[in-house]
Amino acid sequence: MKVSLESRRPAQSRADVVVLGRHTDGAPGEVADVDQRLGGFLSRVLAAEKFEGKPGQISYFFTNGKLPAARVMVVGLGARASADSETVRRAASATARRARDLGASSVAMYLPAAGISARERAQATVEGARLGTYRFEKYLKEKNGKVLASLAVLEPEGRQRDAGRDGVRLGEIGVDATMLARDLVNEPANVVTPSYLAERAQELAKTGRLRVRVLDKDACQELGMGAYLGVAQGSLEPPRFIHLTYAPGRRARRRVVIIGKGITFDSGGLDLKTADGMLRMKHDMAGAATVLGVFQALPRLRLPVEVHGLIAATENMPSGTAQRPGDIVRAMNGLTIEIGNTDAEGRLTLADAMSYAAREIKPTEMVELATLTGAIVIALGQGVTGLFATQDGLADRLLGASSAAGERMWRMPLHDEYKDGLKSEIADLNNVSSQRGAGAIVAALFMRDFTSGIPWAHLDIAGTAFSERELPLGPRGGTGVGVRTLLAYLTRVAGRR
Ligand code: BES
Ligand code: MN
Ligand code: ZN
Repeated sequence: MKVSLESRRPAQSRADVVVLGRHTDGAPGEVADVDQRLGGFLSRVLAAEKFEGKPGQISYFFTNGKLPAARVMVVGLGARASADSETVRRAASATARRARDLGASSVAMYLPAAGISARERAQATVEGARLGTYRFEKYLKEKNGKVLASLAVLEPEGRQRDAGRDGVRLGEIGVDATMLARDLVNEPANVVTPSYLAERAQELAKTGRLRVRVLDKDACQELGMGAYLGVAQGSLEPPRFIHLTYAPGRRARRRVVIIGKGITFDSGGLDLKTADGMLRMKHDMAGAATVLGVFQALPRLRLPVEVHGLIAATENMPSGTAQRPGDIVRAMNGLTIEIGNTDAEGRLTLADAMSYAAREIKPTEMVELATLTGAIVIALGQGVTGLFATQDGLADRLLGASSAAGERMWRMPLHDEYKDGLKSEIADLNNVSSQRGAGAIVAALFMRDFTSGIPWAHLDIAGTAFSERELPLGPRGGTGVGVRTLLAYLTRVAGRR
């Protein structure tokens, strides 16, 4: 979809469909202008349809040559007081989908939600329209013929033009990165192997301003990553430890590590999952996909912050060489771990990635994303990411960023007493708890032992990384969750906004 900012008023737009936002309680503004040019036709249609302007409400009609645009589409923005960027995103998504399904190829949007700056509005319009019409149809012989070729974000106010352009640019960068993450999650596990993830990382680094280091099994062994390699030993696919670095031109004040769980397929290992439980486990590298998405965006954003991305990529497979329940492995930080369950593999790979971060990078803080537990899906469902953090300031920065991005997140407790369940009689830790319940918290407590005291946040995205049904901003499948939140977070860390 080609995106541009146009300084035209809606009544002047030449698009196939011109979209107008309308609050339940707002001044009619451009709606009144269009209505006037149509001799009151617009207000008659809205009255006949009892259009109130509730979120998601849509009304449209042909202009019959009375306006340059072929169709006018009005979309509800709800009450002024409850409007935010997400209101705009959802309105843009719903109308882009509708316009596309009506056969339009070009659309222009004017969605002036109350209390939102011109920059935010332009950014949210681009995000909603592009994310909402995303499709993964690479493997289909018969692709959907209806495609929106262009979007014009309308900004009639001349002095807001630069802000609007900036918003369009930021929107495009965040959407491109999110779509990369979605594609990677939607690709099957016979394509997305650890080596494939490493190649994609190397490809990103070629575009400049990024460095990449890929460690093979021997190099990881050398570093003492026994927890990660224990998971990898059952698979014919060789493991790849990926370390991406974005360094700004001048010296940065902060150094952030982002870590993504990169299990390209989670069969459970010898503690094999059921057929039903295994079905969607190609998604178990969604955290890694988010990291790669963020690194695609970083050179384009040019933020003055140093960012390192880590992915300990491997499959988790059962075989004659697979790790056994009861095995004891030694992690890179020296702690020994008794394997209580080979299906609790994510925390083992992440433990070594975190030890690597502490020893080799020494960051100011680290943020890690993982499709870690079924328990977080029970606790928070498919709409909310679980946030765990060892520092309130870090938690607050992430919560602020997530609400700006419209990706819901809820802070969970690192309740110390639950750590008792992770005790082992013959090793420093067991990878699963002997006590019932609180599975997401227990997993987070396990990983906290590998932070070396560095402020750390953990995002359990098992519920939010992919969706079983169509969402307001995307189809079924990979969501690319976390990409836009992390970009907003890094923007804040860098002191821009
Ligand atoms: N990748 C799974 C978690 C998962 C479950 C992600 C459902 C997405 C949807 C993880 O590796 C896992 O198997 N976790 C186990 C841990 C248990 C063995 C302690 C779980 O949640 O059941
Ligand atoms: Mn597992
Ligand atoms: Zn897993």
